[in-house]
Formats: sequence, C-alpha cells, structure tokens
Amino acid sequence: QFPPRVRLVEVGPRDGLQNEQQPISVAEKVRLVDDLSAAGLGYIEVGSFVSPRWVPQMAGSADVFAAIEQRPGVTYAALAPNLKGFEAALAAGVREVAVFAAASEAFSQRNINCSIGESLQRFAPLMEAAAEHDVRVRGYISCVLGCPYDGAVQPADVAHIAAELIGMGCYEVSLGDTIGVGTAGDTHRLFDRVCRDVPRERLAGHFHDTYGQALANIHAALIEGIAVFDSSVAGLGGCPYARGATGNVATEDVLYLLNGMGIETGVDMDRLVTAGDRICQVLGKLNGSRVARAMLAR
Ligand code: HMG
Ligand code: MG
Repeated sequence: QFPPRVRLVEVGPRDGLQNEQQPISVAEKVRLVDDLSAAGLGYIEVGSFVSPRWVPQMAGSADVFAAIEQRPGVTYAALAPNLKGFEAALAAGVREVAVFAAASEAFSQRNINCSIGESLQRFAPLMEAAAEHDVRVRGYISCVLGCPYDGAVQPADVAHIAAELIGMGCYEVSLGDTIGVGTAGDTHRLFDRVCRDVPRERLAGHFHDTYGQALANIHAALIEGIAVFDSSVAGLGGCPYARGATGNVATEDVLYLLNGMGIETGVDMDRLVTAGDRICQVLGKLNGSRVARAMLAR
C-alpha cells in the first residue's frame, strides 16, 4: 500500500545552485523560489548559512530570504551547520532550518571539517536555540548508501545517527544518497533497518541521480512507506564535496512518477516545467529533467 500523498521538499535553490561556479544574481534566485512556490511546492530550501569560504554561491542567502514572496502555507528553509549559521538564519527571518551530518567519517571531515561525533555536539546548542525560538529543525545524513572516500556504509550506522538526530529534536531526518550510487535493493535494506530505530513517518529520501537509479530508489522507498522526498527542479546540482556527483533527482521526474501512481502532491506540472526551464536558460545548462525535455519537445 503506497502513501496516498507525498510531500516534496524542493532543494533546487540550495542543493541545486550551491554547486554552480558562475555567479547567479539574488534576483534570479528569488525568481526561482517564487516560480517554485507558484507551482505549488509547499516546502522550498532557499539557501544556506554556511561559511562563504566553503560554499561561495550561498553567501547571499539572507538577501534571497528578504526578497522572496512568502506565500502562506509554504515552508522556506535553510541549512545551518552550527550556532553561528542558525543565528544568521534567525536574523534573516528563517523559521525552519536543517542541520547536516554524514554517515561516514571522511565525508564529515570534507564537508563540515569535523567528525560525526563532533558534528552532533555542534548541533546541540543550535537545537536549544531553535527550540527557544520555535524554529523547526530538519536533519540530513549524507552518504547513506556509499561514501566517495570511505566506500560502503552500514545501514546500522545510518540508523544510529538518525535516531540521535531525532533524539536531539529534529522532527524529520532525510537520508541522502549523496553520490547516487545506491540501488533499489540497497534502499530497501537501508529503510528496513533505519525504520527499526526511527518511525517511518519521520524519514525522508534524498536521492542524487548520478547512476540513474533515483526514481527506482524512490519507488523502493515508497514501498517501505516513506512519504517525503527531496528533489531539485530540472535536476540541478551536485555536491561540492563529492566529485562527479550529479544533481538531485529532478522534481519534474518524481512528479511524473507520483502522478502516474495517483499519489497527491499539490504540484502543477506545467508551471514546474516552466520554472525549471527558465533557470536552465539563465544558467546556460541542459535541462536535467527527462520529463521536462520530453514535454518541452512536444
Ligand atoms: P570551520 O572552518 O571548521 O569553522 O568550518 P570554524 O568554526 O573553525 O570557523 C572558521 C571560520 O568560518 C570563522 O571565520 C567563522 O566565523 C566562520 P573567520 O574567523 O576565520 O573569519 N564560520 C561561518 N561563517 C558563516 N556561516 C557559518 C559559519 N561557521 C563558521 N555558519 C563549517 C566549519 C561547518 C562552517 C564549514 O565547514 C562549512 O561552512 N561547511 C559547509 C559545507 C556545505 O555547505 N556543504 C554543502 C551542503 S551539505 C549537502 O549538500 C548534502 C545534502 O544535500 C544531503 C546529501 O545530498 O547528502 C544536505
Ligand atoms: Mg544533496
């Protein structure tokens, strides 16, 4: 029995654009976010409050937050790796943040310059401040199906970190296949194991499509009862700390799958395709959504 409704978490403006080398103006980022909310997406990750030395493209996130049209009922979120990032997000009016850990030590060091244990310690004061200000916190775990530096990752390790994040106060944990290496079998084993420690209602899937397996993995996760998926319009993105990783699974492609299965999302396909195509033209990039390319060719 598949979930009747899926919540799509649109990460294009953050996970998508963070990897772009060329400068993208605040106005273009704002336009993208506004196009996505107009398409019916109820959750948009707008930017990051991280070190601008580490991820220069996200430096203007406060300006983006100040200029977007905040539609009622839509959640506009940002990444925050530590208390400093949280305070900057709060000052920018952000009402929901996401912390990000990794399932492998090497990726944790490369991405946030500390061990997994240290990262959880750094989140603690952030979680406290968030509770004080009534800001919701989502958690991410990277490299859940493989690490570019350490190789294989054990589902039990992912389960332990996910349970820790929930115990610290995250309302949901998104499991990221950062380098897109996982298959449907791996995805089944992962959720089967993690669901022993964390209720499935509190888990999300975050699939990058590097090996073309993301839709199959989402289908496998749906079978496990997972009903929240992260995706990126036009398949934008990659990860600055995972060489060769492509973007997230394209939102248009996930929507096509879900529409075909009769699963509700509240997202309008035509508007979504238009939004994705516009940002691809701005970036001078080929649209990474197969569905969008097919629809635009008609
Ligand atoms: P660090 O160098 O260890 O930090 O970086 P530090 O505490 O030693 O501070 C060094 C300097 O950074 C100081 O400035 C701090 O003030 C500053 P200085 O005194 O030298 O001028 N600093 C900050 N500045 C702005 N915002 C902050 C902040 N914190 C410290 N929040 C840190 C540690 C975590 C900051 C750094 O490693 C970092 O910013 N990493 C970000 C990495 C990142 O954004 N990666 C991409 C997102 S994660 C992802 O894409 C995966 C995901 O999609 C899921 C998946 O696919 O797997 C979520
Ligand atoms: Mg990602």
